[in-house]
Amino acid sequence: MADRKLILTDPETNKQLDLSVVAGSEGDPTLDIAGLYPKLGYFTFDPGYGSTASCKSDITFIDGGAGILRYRGYPIEQLAEQSSFLECAYLLLYGELPTQEEFTDFDHDITYHTMVHEKINSFMQGFHYDAHPMAILAGVVGSMAAFYHDKLDVNDPDQRDLAAKRLIAKMPTIAAAAYRHSQGWPSAYPKNSLGYSERFLNMMFSVPAEPYEINPVAAKALDLLFILHADHEQNASTSTVRLVGSTGANPYACVAAGISALWGPAHGGANEAVLKMLNEIGTVKRVPEFIQRAKDRDDPFRLMGFGHRVYKNHDPRATIIRKACHEVLEDLGQADELLDLAMELERIALEDEFFIERKLYPNVDFYSGIIYKALNIPTSMFTAMFAIGRTVGWVSQWLEQSATPTRIGRPRQIYTGATEREYVAIEQR
Ligand code: SDX
Repeated sequence: MADRKLILTDPETNKQLDLSVVAGSEGDPTLDIAGLYPKLGYFTFDPGYGSTASCKSDITFIDGGAGILRYRGYPIEQLAEQSSFLECAYLLLYGELPTQEEFTDFDHDITYHTMVHEKINSFMQGFHYDAHPMAILAGVVGSMAAFYHDKLDVNDPDQRDLAAKRLIAKMPTIAAAAYRHSQGWPSAYPKNSLGYSERFLNMMFSVPAEPYEINPVAAKALDLLFILHADHEQNASTSTVRLVGSTGANPYACVAAGISALWGPAHGGANEAVLKMLNEIGTVKRVPEFIQRAKDRDDPFRLMGFGHRVYKNHDPRATIIRKACHEVLEDLGQADELLDLAMELERIALEDEFFIERKLYPNVDFYSGIIYKALNIPTSMFTAMFAIGRTVGWVSQWLEQSATPTRIGRPRQIYTGATEREYVAIEQR
């Protein structure tokens, strides 16, 4: 497809422009339109970027029509079954599965960067007890630049790698501290003897009054969820990280912006919204009422956890999480009527022409909250959990972009405001 092109002719000027087709190793063909404005004087208009590729990337591949998700070529189903979150983090960051020696070194680096500066713990005290964890996460992560000002040279590959590891290592520490702050508990420091997900559970739920026993089922379920949330090509929060990174801003500022973007209910905030929706629906009897509301153009209600910009087939992550829900609840000896309700909601929606026609399927957020709830993680922490996993994707994509010269991202617009007019003194208005 190297020399395939489309020829564009402007009927007014008869000027022509060859739009070369840029092919990746996989995925849909893409037109290189960089010459469109300089040569033909036209911008393109694509609000929401539904038909626009912002970059080239080697990291994650999604085929939305086939419901395929691969990290560096490895199918998500295989990674979910056989890998660990920290191994996937290495894969996403460096492009290859690590040897045992590489993994041991990487695990050591992450483990020995899990503590935060003690001043950050006192900074945390400044938040009101009921501050939303995502507000704390965005604020504290942005403030990290104040503690590492001597290692913020984004042109130094070693400093970039260190910042990436610091963010992956400290995100669970900060997220757990946000939860403990809301409970009025003292800080819990990371334990180097524990693995990544076990360490997080210990920081979340251990109390000084008694020993905390980590449930291996919970740790395994958490590790799976972190794997499934790790990266997802150019989603809104990752695109935010890249756009902020294109200005040369430091990685903590980039990731703090990504956290803020993730918070929205149309994006990572959906997992929290799904639980609120399921609780509002309450019983299977009320499902038809909410399906009807979701279909009503005049009602802003949407079926949270349903639909996706790219997947027009099942989100493979939702399929994996749905299966894990049953396993985790069974292993923990729990039942959750919300899972039954979610399954019934999915069944009814997927039989409804409105959802079938629009190819609306459950996405990653539809079932994840059921597992978080089974692990006693409060709804307010659900999006922070998403952020812990997605930090790996954000820093991997930031590293990829930072490694090569990148022009600052600066979209144009269609101006629809007032044309030129003269200023009128207030006395004459
Ligand atoms: C994530 O980009 C990523 O990869 C994101 C993510 C990641 O890993 O980073 O996968 C994580 O953010 C998953 C999405 C979580 N958000 C939700 O579950 C919120 C509910 N979903 C919707 O808001 C919506 O589906 C989006 C935001 C996910 C996608 O929006 P799009 O691509 O802009 O789709 P659209 O709004 O153009 O919808 C197309 C049609 C519309 O109807 P019509 O105007 O054609 O009549 O489908 C309808 C929409 O109204 N629709 C829904 C719906 N989602 C879309 N109707 C009811 N309920 C829904 N959930």
